[in-house]
Amino acid sequence: MTQKTVYYIEGDGIGAEVWNATRPILNAAVEKAYGDSNKFDWQELLAGEKAFAETGEHLPQATMDALAGAELAIKGPLNTPVGEGFRSLNVTLRQVFDLYACIRPIKYIKGIESPVKRPDLVDMCIFRENTEDVYAGIEFKSGSAEAKKLIEFLADEMGAKVDITAGIGIKPITPAGSKRLVKKAIEYAIEKNKPSVTLMHKGNIMKTTEGGFRAWGYELAEEEFKGTVVREGEAGDGIIINDRIADAMFQNTLMYPEQYSVIATTNLNGDYISDALAAQVGGLGLSPGVNMGDNLAFYEATHGTAPTIAGKDLANPGSLLLSGTMMLEHIGWTEAAALIHASVEKSIAAKRVTIDLAAQIEGAEQVGCQEFGEILLSNL
Ligand code: NAI
Repeated sequence: MTQKTVYYIEGDGIGAEVWNATRPILNAAVEKAYGDSNKFDWQELLAGEKAFAETGEHLPQATMDALAGAELAIKGPLNTPVGEGFRSLNVTLRQVFDLYACIRPIKYIKGIESPVKRPDLVDMCIFRENTEDVYAGIEFKSGSAEAKKLIEFLADEMGAKVDITAGIGIKPITPAGSKRLVKKAIEYAIEKNKPSVTLMHKGNIMKTTEGGFRAWGYELAEEEFKGTVVREGEAGDGIIINDRIADAMFQNTLMYPEQYSVIATTNLNGDYISDALAAQVGGLGLSPGVNMGDNLAFYEATHGTAPTIAGKDLANPGSLLLSGTMMLEHIGWTEAAALIHASVEKSIAAKRVTIDLAAQIEGAEQVGCQEFGEILLSNL
């Protein structure tokens, strides 16, 4: 028997509800596909409000120790506690475990209403760099002693003029950080037989950071994937690697979505394009995601804790479920993943769905989180 240990964090707000709906579906899909031969060994870890209630800490050391040796984990959303020594539990987890690639596949599910004419042409996977860029958190408030000192340094030592009242943020982007992200994107394209990898950047304006990302991406492709990956416009067969400026990318993915497949990009661009593309296929409620490093793959619902609907049995478990389905694909349990994808399509076609989807699907009947989970289970 193959047993995979997966650490799970229920999460805050709607976290427990969506997790309780999701876990039986993941288990049942695995059982249906493989009988007794494959199995998950679920191990709970505490984080967020549940952890605080039980241990007095939002991110207990025991959780960090377990994750340090883990290969797979999955989590619901976590609230950001105000006034503690870190900005966000999510950011802390990403930084401590060096989960440098945020991967979000975005594909249309039949039956969902979309604001565009041909959402069915959207089949993209975004690789967003997760550790660098303006998210490094190096910021100095307008008027602060630090900002003034830095502005004076820039003027005196670097000959760069910045208004003394400016707030200042630093945007570090490294060759190594860019290359490891682009490498993951190309490996994914090879594994999944995808036609292209597009480097999305704003290098026309931010030449040393965004432009650096572009240049290092091409360098990596040349150094490690020569023969397999071919630069757009050059002769040869293989996966095309090209680049697009961020603003054009927003137009192009709307107007010609069929031309884009795997997108590798910097942190802030990735934040924007992930939500824009998710909206193109009908919203965030069904978008899965994973934060991946070299050791740990941490799957997560892409939405937040939805405090206004928490505890009311209204939440859609789809995002967490599809994140778990990505995990099944990642570990090669693809038959189980296919069962879940088919069930999601069938369940949506049957039009008995949670409130967020019911609002988008004409003639749909609203059901609760738990009942939607049961429908998904019965359609496996
Ligand atoms: P949110 O995603 O929680 O809610 C935005 C809107 O979407 C709300 O109307 C909510 O009711 C709805 N919604 C979200 N998930 C849903 C689901 N599964 N089913 C049905 N409707 C759903 O974003 P918001 O309000 O900005 O953030 C609330 C909290 O969540 C904050 O504390 C934030 O820090 C945290 N958060 C955590 C994330 C994570 O753990 N990865 C990601 C985003 C936010």
